Amino acid sequence: MKIELCLLAAASAVAAVAAQGNGVLPMNNDRDAVIKVFEENVYGVRPKFDGFVPKAEIVQVERIAEVGAVRKTVAINTMTPLGEATFKATAYFPEGKGAVPVFVMPGFHQSIREFDLAWKGKMSRWPVDLVLSNGFGTVTFDYNDVLKDDAHVLDGIERAPNAWGAISTWALAVSRVADWLETEPLADKSRLAVVGLSRLGKTTLWAGATDTRFAMVCPTCSGLFGARMTTRNLGGETIDQITAKFPHWFTPQCRTKWCGKDWELPFDQHWLLGAVAPRLLAVGSAEDDWWACPSAEFCSWECSRGRFQELKCIGNTTYHVRHGGHGLTPVDWEEYIDFAKKHGWAERTTP
Ligand code: GCU
Repeated sequence: MKIELCLLAAASAVAAVAAQGNGVLPMNNDRDAVIKVFEENVYGVRPKFDGFVPKAEIVQVERIAEVGAVRKTVAINTMTPLGEATFKATAYFPEGKGAVPVFVMPGFHQSIREFDLAWKGKMSRWPVDLVLSNGFGTVTFDYNDVLKDDAHVLDGIERAPNAWGAISTWALAVSRVADWLETEPLADKSRLAVVGLSRLGKTTLWAGATDTRFAMVCPTCSGLFGARMTTRNLGGETIDQITAKFPHWFTPQCRTKWCGKDWELPFDQHWLLGAVAPRLLAVGSAEDDWWACPSAEFCSWECSRGRFQELKCIGNTTYHVRHGGHGLTPVDWEEYIDFAKKHGWAERTTP
């Protein structure tokens, strides 16, 4: 689908709402209620972790001269439905800049390897050199180290109808990275962003909507149960398909209650996008990413703007659709970096 067509389809969906007052659910501006609805129905409710002691241990600090950076490797612990897990996070900070804004990316193993192999990171989903050269830091971890992305990973445990799933677990790990960054002298904790692709774009949105320490949230090609409006799907993935193939991502009742009811859901993802306000929201789509349905991602973003308008911060939300297919590319990163800079992130907050 071409960009113009996506935008046209989305614009007509929005126009239909405006004209008829039906179709798209009216915006829900009650943030707490919105989070509860999505906990119960989609991502699951996290248990209380009695006795959990948070730990973040720096295991290595290196100077990486090629990109003028300090690389820190950190072991961080977190909770999962299977108990405690420790994962390794890899962070790059530009040298000699003091505390800088940081982009946190829940990532695929591939991202770390690509950067190490390609070094200059040109083809990478994680273009570290681009981020560094703009004066920002970045950190990633392999989401599989937190909880294995396998449809059967939770088979052995009894799950309540609203029990948490893998997306919520990975999102908690993102928050655990923020816990560490709050203590890290090279990070400006008032300027933390979260960015992720696809299933990790869904994770990014859920982490960013629930954890207000993230001052900027960038779900990319996140599709169904990411930025995309479920009730405005034009031929992309359905609730039946996603919950059959990836049951472990969601709360069990996401399937039992909502399978086959895509167009009748009493809640929708524009509510969750609105839950990011008044913080910065940057949604990214790709024109050929039909499975994620870019027109419905745009429609959702467009419909969430009411919340930003209400909070008098309409400039805090942006959307882009780029050429090409499913992915997180340097073009997307440039959009996010530019948006951050537009909001003063390149200026120093510490002496
Ligand atoms: C599958 C899944 C999508 C998901 C994507 C990804 O295609 O159906 O919902 O976004 O994987 O994470 O790559």
